[in-house]
Amino acid sequence: RVVNSLAIEMFAGLASEGGSKVRMLLTCVDTLPDGYVSSCDMTRSEEGIYYAIDLGGTSFRVLQVELGAGSTIINRKVEHQPIPEKLTKGTSDDLFNFIASTLKNFIEREGGGDEGRALGFTFSFPVSQNSISSGTLIRWTKEFSVEEAVGKDVAQCLNEALARNGLNMKVNVLVNNTVGTLALGHYYDEDTVAAVIIGAGTNACYIERNDAIIKSLGRLTNSGLTVVNVEWGSFRPPQIALTPYDICFNNETWNYYDQNFEKMISGVYLGEIARLVFQKMAQESDIFGTNDGLSTPFILSTPNLAAIREDDSPDLREVGKILEEHLKLQDVPHKTRKLVVRVCDIITQRAARLAAAAIVAILQKIGCDGTLCGTSEVRTMRGVRRRTVVAIEGGLVQGYSAFREYLDEAIVEILGEEIAATVSLRVMEEGSGTGAALLAAAYSSARQSKLH
Ligand code: GLC
Repeated sequence: RVVNSLAIEMFAGLASEGGSKVRMLLTCVDTLPDGYVSSCDMTRSEEGIYYAIDLGGTSFRVLQVELGAGSTIINRKVEHQPIPEKLTKGTSDDLFNFIASTLKNFIEREGGGDEGRALGFTFSFPVSQNSISSGTLIRWTKEFSVEEAVGKDVAQCLNEALARNGLNMKVNVLVNNTVGTLALGHYYDEDTVAAVIIGAGTNACYIERNDAIIKSLGRLTNSGLTVVNVEWGSFRPPQIALTPYDICFNNETWNYYDQNFEKMISGVYLGEIARLVFQKMAQESDIFGTNDGLSTPFILSTPNLAAIREDDSPDLREVGKILEEHLKLQDVPHKTRKLVVRVCDIITQRAARLAAAAIVAILQKIGCDGTLCGTSEVRTMRGVRRRTVVAIEGGLVQGYSAFREYLDEAIVEILGEEIAATVSLRVMEEGSGTGAALLAAAYSSARQSKLH
């Protein structure tokens, strides 16, 4: 039922602007890299060095991607830089200056020069776009709230900061992280039709046929296709009741009852839900003894929750260590530690199963629209079926095996083994940034490959 209701919201979001809980943002991307080297690619002029900036979580990345003949990736350098918390809630100038100066230092250190280099900007928040190189910030999500940037063209904000920092570069393409991940997925495998992020936040994008986009009928793109950014984080599954912990949690976050789906699934939030459950347990029993540490919001991170769930040592030593270090709970008995693991397991399972339902909703949407996606076919017991690849990225699917297992399990449960066998979720390392650099290359060269 969650699959169906998200699929319906997706249709509604394509039918009219604001007609749905999911925004279904049109991205201006109608071309994806394919990494395919053939004789006719000799005219492609994408060889060279490209840069990308990837902003969306607590740490941001600067990337240098070198493309060789046929636009193949021959070298990639990535630098991670944590963003000081005050910049995520401060002024627009401070945030963009920090990004620009980090890029400048990176270029100076790595060589390659800035002169006229194409730049991909991965900006992982909802943006309204009329061109590939610009976009207006609709609102912040996750832990960012630089209010004065809302309503502004974020590419222009970055261009101005680049100029202030003496860099001779401009944003060539502005993309959501899902779109960057899709681009890298498509570069490796042309059967990639969608991309999903389950990290600090959660979201997906997929390739849509222009004639299915009712809200902008007559839309012209080279390929007749457009990548749509679903923004499923704002979905509110009607079948899933909010628990008292979700309610309590919504009351303490700055964007109250927004981004409900994201708050049940992604990394900014899961650890905090667990803390609220532990706090309630402590209020209603004495299983934790003294428990002052439990009252500090966001003191338990999602990596902590994952480490608790993954601890399979007989004495649950890691669990004890985390409870002591982060929640100031001393000598928690084994029985209580087991309970703590169980709570983290339930929160993980709910998150992964909801994410699985959302992935299936995308597959359903694509399937409903017929034959536009998927280029090769695989044989199954009942005949020939299309193969579908979904690129995925984010801390929960890359660094947390229990999450991934629950996700895979639920996809099989919903689709059935036979159909699920035709779908592969392919993890993209640094996909969102690398994909943006590839798109910057594709959109800055004269010749572009088409979406399939
Ligand atoms: C939030 C953002 C979305 C992004 C996702 C994953 O949901 O609104 O744009 O893709 O987080 O980072």
